[in-house]
Amino acid sequence: MDNYGLRGATALLASVVTTLAVQFHRAKRNSDFAIVEAMPKVELHVHLDGALCNEALFSALGDGDLADRLPTAVTLGWDAANPLNVKAELEKCKTLGDFNCLCRCKGERSLNAMLRCFEIFTPIVRGNMQLLEENAFKFAENQSKQNVVYTEVRYSPHFLASTSSKTKTGVLNGAAKEVVAAVTRGLIRGCQEFDIVINQILCCINWRPEWADETVDLAYEFSKGGGECCVVGVDVAAGEEHFDEVNFPQLHGPHLKAISRAKRLGLNVTLHAGEDTGPENIFKAVDVYKATRVGHGYRAADDEGVLKNMAQRRIHFEVCPTSSFETGGWQGNEGEWHAHPLINMLKSGLSVSINSDDPTVFATSLTDEICIANVGMRVTVEKILAIMVGSMEASFATQETKVKVIENVLKRFRVADH
Ligand SMILES: *[C@@H]1O[C@H](CO)[C@@H](O)[C@H](O)[C@H]1NC(C)=O
Ligand SMILES: *[C@@H]1O[C@H](CO)[C@@H](O)[C@H](O)[C@H]1NC(C)=O
Ligand SMILES: [Zn+2]
Repeated sequence: MDNYGLRGATALLASVVTTLAVQFHRAKRNSDFAIVEAMPKVELHVHLDGALCNEALFSALGDGDLADRLPTAVTLGWDAANPLNVKAELEKCKTLGDFNCLCRCKGERSLNAMLRCFEIFTPIVRGNMQLLEENAFKFAENQSKQNVVYTEVRYSPHFLASTSSKTKTGVLNGAAKEVVAAVTRGLIRGCQEFDIVINQILCCINWRPEWADETVDLAYEFSKGGGECCVVGVDVAAGEEHFDEVNFPQLHGPHLKAISRAKRLGLNVTLHAGEDTGPENIFKAVDVYKATRVGHGYRAADDEGVLKNMAQRRIHFEVCPTSSFETGGWQGNEGEWHAHPLINMLKSGLSVSINSDDPTVFATSLTDEICIANVGMRVTVEKILAIMVGSMEASFATQETKVKVIENVLKRFRVADH
């Protein structure tokens, strides 16, 4: 493989996936789901805290002292007047079914409804390193079961860390680093056991500018050496107000400064932008924050000029179909998938990936999302395989890792020679 270099390897992969597509079509696998499930997949936009194992969380709820540690009232950045009573909400859950309902955001079609959901279940894992490590391991297992050969998984270390009323950040000193260490351990164990590759992206949180600097410090620290399951990039998640330097200067300043520093430290940048806001945030992400990938960006698809511009600059868009429906980022109806922004993005030659975003919260999986593209949006299997190759190219993995992933695919999917 060394002789091929990356270019040769991607060309080889492209021919392998074409052969696979023919084989899939030919026989045996007669359902769309089985075809999509069997194909090698790449996922670039999935939140670890949106992919936690509900069974493990629900059973942790029964642990002795957890109930005492659950917060009674959590202030929501976007709705300070109505604090969320996490403890009371969780105490109402008597069965796993109740718990699943509480952790799932279905049918509300609002971004804040989804963010509220996270505030309810994350206190269960917060500060629990063993549970976090176990979840990271299980995440790797689930990716492997779906034939996902390369993943970039993201989360905010501070959001999952033990809290403290004594520090400026509200997080216990050193606790955010413990989170990254625990997740890294779980991922490494999982990747070794299931023979897949997972890298990490650390997220700053829109409403918590005081976390931004340390998030970048941690990203840099865990990126060094480019070891297994290392950090390869940074993001800002949970809302886009930080792009607004006029109305939210207290969010804008610290985030722009931190992301610019990350860039100087050699980290790659992807930003949630244009999810349920206009294309101006996409331009800010790319022109001001210098992101090379955009999370969502559905509103760019309304404007052909914007799409052309982004395609020319080779900006990659991470599209999450069910998420776009549930957050209201895309306002179409269930029967209208063929009119989803992804179609215009593909038409204009934009590099895109298909992603699950928060599989537990939206009760979906990467396989389900690709089925939506295949069946609902009528994107052909050949095109989807090409999207997977393009996603690998747009990933923040090193050349060496990209070649390793391609080798894994060749090993895993023995393709008949014809
Ligand atoms: C893995 O998948 C199973 C079955 O879909 C699900 O019940 C579980 O919560 C998932 N776990 C993780 C960590 O994603
Ligand atoms: C990652 O960052 C490097 C250095 O800034 C840049 O050259 C490269 O194009 C970026 N990769 C992607 C996939 O955006
Ligand atoms: Zn996201």
